[in-house]
Amino acid sequence: MYNLEIDLTEYQNERAGYYERLAKQLRSLLSIEPNAVTNMAQTAAFIFTSIPDLNWAGFYVNDGNDQLRLGPYQGRVACVHIPFGRGVCGTVAAKRQSLLINNVHEFEGHIACDSASNSEIVVPLIQNDKVLGVLDIDSPTLNRFHQEDLDGFEALAAEFLAATQW
Ligand code: SME
Repeated sequence: MYNLEIDLTEYQNERAGYYERLAKQLRSLLSIEPNAVTNMAQTAAFIFTSIPDLNWAGFYVNDGNDQLRLGPYQGRVACVHIPFGRGVCGTVAAKRQSLLINNVHEFEGHIACDSASNSEIVVPLIQNDKVLGVLDIDSPTLNRFHQEDLDGFEALAAEFLAATQW
């Protein structure tokens, strides 16, 4: 039903178009069911299997006490709680702005959940002015992500929010 094979040539040659195609596929995938846990699980698996060179992809959810709680993801076991303002994820949740980090080891307060992670993109999930959580994508490669990846993950996060009842 979904072509989840990674087309490396397409990804390398036309990243923006690649993400446009993924956004359409994700919309179709998430149209089946609005449940948040279901859609976080599907979105994490979809990203992890559709985009090359990642070691972690998934969600942290706002637990209502200025803290993020681990949600559905693909990758190695991770930190369960991250306070708002701490690490890349907590900074994104507090500032409500996406971050593209070329080298996580140079990020003040970075939380090393998986020692394989070297670069990272985190996108906030905001609905009706509330921070619902963040989408976190990690790569083992330094300088792995470009602006097109950030734009692409923001578009995928928007598809997730549009399809999901929180
Ligand atoms: N590196 C993240 C923590 C989450 S894990 O990488 C899955 C951070 O500093 O927020």
